[in-house]
Amino acid sequence: MDNNRLCWCGSGMPYSQCHREFDEKWNEYRQKGYIVPPRKIIKNQKQIENIRKSAEINIHVLDYIAEHIREGVTTEQIDRWVYQETTKYGAIPAPLHYEGFPKSVCTSINNQVCHGIPSSKIVLQEGDIINVDASTNYRGYYSDSSRMFCIGEVSEENRRLVEVTKECVQLGLEQVKPWGFLGDMGQAVNDHARKNGYSVVREIGGHGIGLEFHELPWVSYVSKRGTQMMMAPGMIFTIEPMVNLGKPQVYVNRSDGWTVYTKDGKPSAQWEIQVLVTDNGYEVISY
Ligand code: MF3
Ligand code: CO
Repeated sequence: MDNNRLCWCGSGMPYSQCHREFDEKWNEYRQKGYIVPPRKIIKNQKQIENIRKSAEINIHVLDYIAEHIREGVTTEQIDRWVYQETTKYGAIPAPLHYEGFPKSVCTSINNQVCHGIPSSKIVLQEGDIINVDASTNYRGYYSDSSRMFCIGEVSEENRRLVEVTKECVQLGLEQVKPWGFLGDMGQAVNDHARKNGYSVVREIGGHGIGLEFHELPWVSYVSKRGTQMMMAPGMIFTIEPMVNLGKPQVYVNRSDGWTVYTKDGKPSAQWEIQVLVTDNGYEVISY
């Protein structure tokens, strides 16, 4: 490319001052046979700022849920809170009508792994562990994160599952750096889960996000160090492993087409953060 031309990233900067060095590395790694990220998932500063604004709302929504969730609340009520706190800031809950999903948020309790549908029939009970997964579309920019909540006193077994799953995400995050591999992150997650006697769901993963709800790459948490797509500055993806107390196998509820359960009926936990790869490491965009 002519070095005086504007950069392909849309920054409006001359290429030579923008992604030229990036492209040199990118080409070098591609020639070595590694999987390098496609240009369309590399965000420029303007896009990152907009995605951060979306994430601010997403974080607020989960903070609001954290303050209000308690025994006796229905998951339908959580859905209403999410809708209310998202639209209040001019944003739209990204799950609403996404591929036919009927609600604004996913609420997954106990042996539900993910994509649980809020319902007036599901009343939170003491001892439940629940994942609330919120995603926001703000002016076409996307954010996505989820947290676990323990309702009242929960069993030691469940409390530990929730805690270790959060540690898995943190250990995965610490592997995020430019020109490292997504497999470095995936292996860190899986190693910690297994060390604690748990298993990680294989079929469902994380994803690139920002300009669309779900972008490349698909992100595994059972991957191996030195494999999968390379991480590069400007890439944004989720770390959202589903960790099972028992076996890793899952199935989808046939009647609602969405809710994923553990096959063995044992509990599952998930935390999700949205991460930007920076020039020297990472920035957590949403949590
Ligand atoms: N954060 C979840 C995901 O990225 C939410 C999916 S929304 C749904 O998979 F509509 F697909 F459920
Ligand atoms: Co997600």
